[in-house]
Amino acid sequence: MDSYKELLAQAEALSEGNVWILSVYANISSLLFNNMENVSWVGFYIAESRIYRTTWDPSIDKLLLGPFCGNPACTVIPFGRGVCGTAAVRKETVIVEDVGKFPGHIACDAESRSEIVVPFFKDGRVVGVLDIDSKQKGRFGERDREGLEAICRVIEKKL
Ligand code: SME
Repeated sequence: MDSYKELLAQAEALSEGNVWILSVYANISSLLFNNMENVSWVGFYIAESRIYRTTWDPSIDKLLLGPFCGNPACTVIPFGRGVCGTAAVRKETVIVEDVGKFPGHIACDAESRSEIVVPFFKDGRVVGVLDIDSKQKGRFGERDREGLEAICRVIEKKL
């Protein structure tokens, strides 16, 4: 079972004193990918408006592939599309027990069976999402939601 207490302490240590947000995303992807059980992909999608735009229009905003560990993945996900875009629009964590039953799921990896997506925010607006996939059905539950949301709060402190 994943030790979220340990993972949170390590996420805090990796982000403390780090002034490069891309490095924080990269190190947290690596931390989770290498220390969580049965995960096949861990990474971040970041809102385009937070990187490239001076204004924000949710109807055209997109999530762009950021730092990750795992196989190459889709690079652009519109808000409202897939599990990632759904979590970004709902502004809440989405847990998918069986990706085959989630309408609109974007299959980057044909072997992925379950997924959790946790959004993170600045000033009430979504900055990006943490996306984790597993080849095991029903891999993610409430414990993961709680643990990963706490890790996203660590990222928010750097934004
Ligand atoms: N399955 C995601 C797409 C990203 S990959 O899992 C890395 C989705 O439906 O949004």
